[in-house]
Amino acid sequence: MAIQNTILVTGGAGFIGSNFVLSWRETVGSPIVNLDLLTYAGNASNLDSLRSDSGHTLVQGDICDAELVGSLLSEHRPRAIVHFAAESHVDRSIVGPEAFIRTNVQGTFTLLEQARAYWSGLDEAERSRFRFLHVSTDEVYGTLGPDDPAFSETTAYAPNSPYAASKAASDHLVRAWHHTYGLPVVTTNCSNNYGPFQFPEKLIPLMILSAFEGKPLPVYGDGGNVRDWLFVGDHCSAIHTVLERGRVGETYNIGGNSERKNLDVVTTICDLVDEMRPDAVLGSRRRLITFVKDRPGHDRRYAIDASKIARELGWQPAERFESGLRRTVRWYLDHLAWVENIRTKAYLGWIEQNYAERLAG
Ligand code: NAD
Ligand code: DAU
Repeated sequence: MAIQNTILVTGGAGFIGSNFVLSWRETVGSPIVNLDLLTYAGNASNLDSLRSDSGHTLVQGDICDAELVGSLLSEHRPRAIVHFAAESHVDRSIVGPEAFIRTNVQGTFTLLEQARAYWSGLDEAERSRFRFLHVSTDEVYGTLGPDDPAFSETTAYAPNSPYAASKAASDHLVRAWHHTYGLPVVTTNCSNNYGPFQFPEKLIPLMILSAFEGKPLPVYGDGGNVRDWLFVGDHCSAIHTVLERGRVGETYNIGGNSERKNLDVVTTICDLVDEMRPDAVLGSRRRLITFVKDRPGHDRRYAIDASKIARELGWQPAERFESGLRRTVRWYLDHLAWVENIRTKAYLGWIEQNYAERLAG
């Protein structure tokens, strides 16, 4: 059977993956097979609006399962793989790195090998059409001083956390599969995403929900660490652009032109929650800010030079951080049922484990 217009997405029930799947079905419309293990971070409910959409097939399974990946490729004959699936939380990688090596390294290796076997069996025209798009992170580049130039595609890799090291390893595998076997890959390295459906263990949703509920807002260290913030919808449009027009074998940095100190992000969230859900008893939510023990090896600053994707592919972020953050706060306050649904015992256990000791000083 010939190659189809279908794409195989991995990790499409997670934060970025589900935003990508939803926008792809809405704007592009070609079929998606979505392979997701539905770990604690994956939520089929993110995709509730696609329940009766025959163009979306969710398969609960592991990217480390070579037989499953191989059979999905031969059954659905996709024209591309968009690889989001990963363990993605830095703090969890510090507490338990093994799952990160398994999924991010072994899982990417398994996908690459299955993709190579499938791609080798295509005819020449189909082989040149096929793409393996690997979604990676700016954390592979390490950390910056206050006046250092932003990360570019030629910045040397210097990962500092088990998470970043596992993503760096996966990027190197993807590169090697192109260089050695000719697999048509493209890699994207992007900055911190925020927006709807982000699991509330990451900074922005954690702070929105804790501020709303009047809980302490745990800021690591002095709150002076800097991240570049990218609205998830902009990230999805960038991935779409790279998938259609990115040059094979290249990497593209994706950023939001929005460097902010963590403390500034948290105070802005406090003010937005005060405005949208005023609470006379609590008063200003800024009072909830609590400085806690720092993350070990905490990278000080990330910044992205996204000029290559702008120059070559004409992509730029559309959302400003202030408006994107306002939209995000509004989304969480309007979707408290979604939040309750994902607050499982495992989630509550993680919050207890990560913050009990930190809050104790
Ligand atoms: P996430 O943790 O929200 O979602 C990850 C998804 O992968 C979940 O649905 C999970 O169930 C699935 N998954 C995990 N292990 C799996 C396995 N073995 N097999 C199949 N599925 C598995 O992550 P995210 O924030 O959406 O990140 C998606 C990708 O983007 C990751 O590769 C991450 O490294 C990268 N990235 C994320 C950010 C960010 O700010 N969130 C920034 C840069 C890059
Ligand atoms: O840079 C891209 C990366 O961004 C992605 O590759 C990761 O998958 C994603 O999780 C994110 O990593 P960070 O470590 O930057 O995100 P996190 O939301 O965990 O933390 C953002 C910053 O906020 C970081 O400097 C640590 C700090 N922080 C985080 C939490 C959870 C706090 O101060 N308090 C907290 O409770």
